[in-house]
Amino acid sequence: MRKPIFDLQGKTALVTGAASGIGLAIATLFARQGAFVYLTDINPDNGEQAAEEIRKEGFQAKFFQLNVADEKAVQVLAENLKSEHHLPDILVNNAGIGFVGTMLETTVEDLDRLYQVNVRGVFNLCKAFLPEMVARKAGNIINIASIGGIQAVLERMAYCTTKFAVVGITKSLAIDHAKQGIRVNAICPGRVETPFVKMRLKEYPDPEKAYQEMSATQPLGRMAMPEEVASVALFLASEASSFVTGSCQMVDGGWSAG
Ligand code: NAI
Repeated sequence: MRKPIFDLQGKTALVTGAASGIGLAIATLFARQGAFVYLTDINPDNGEQAAEEIRKEGFQAKFFQLNVADEKAVQVLAENLKSEHHLPDILVNNAGIGFVGTMLETTVEDLDRLYQVNVRGVFNLCKAFLPEMVARKAGNIINIASIGGIQAVLERMAYCTTKFAVVGITKSLAIDHAKQGIRVNAICPGRVETPFVKMRLKEYPDPEKAYQEMSATQPLGRMAMPEEVASVALFLASEASSFVTGSCQMVDGGWSAG
């Protein structure tokens, strides 16, 4: 019998930044679809708790503390998983941080901090896990970029710079490794109601007004829920998207259409 199209039975997935928001929604959905999920995050308490919640539901999950910007730690994790013969078939580079500001309001330290996590983080994980995917001639990488990786978003100069780079990594890997059985895609969310956005909202003089304005930017008239990004990640992770690589999936309520 043919497997159901969104089935992830027998697959192993590794999700970065999985303790919160979009990463948590992706890890939870992938586990529910049958994958063994490695949740990783810089925050150990939320991460352990998230993995425990998934296990309580009867699904398979394990947490590792991981700072994606720490190249050595990423390599050690890859070596450990290799020695356990449990390397990921699906890698989701989700961990990311934000910054609000124009060029005039952005210091070189701000730019470097964002670059370390948003760009070097994706690079470090791909560098550590891609060789084994190439050796197995199978692999699936999903990078969480942003609408800010496709078009400018007001007062997000450093953030957009890093997310354009994530799209660049995605497309480069996709064409360099297509013949080795590896698919690489990006998801570009608009505004998603997560702790990431809630934290940014607190920086505005009137957070409620800012919330309404941010919601109105998207033609669908609201922010996305993390689960609405996770379902697109499931499409990319599964056989349903078997001919999709090098793509940027917009999950922006129509923002980039206008
Ligand atoms: P979030 O802040 O709710 O979750 C991010 C998670 O990443 C947290 O658990 C945090 O501890 C972890 N993290 C931060 N730095 C890390 C590091 N150096 N190493 C490992 N883990 C780290 O954020 P959210 O909203 O779920 O965002 C996830 C991704 O989606 C990010 O890449 C973000 O840029 C992107 N995104 C978010 C949008 C939104 O509106 N929320 C819109 C477009 C893109």
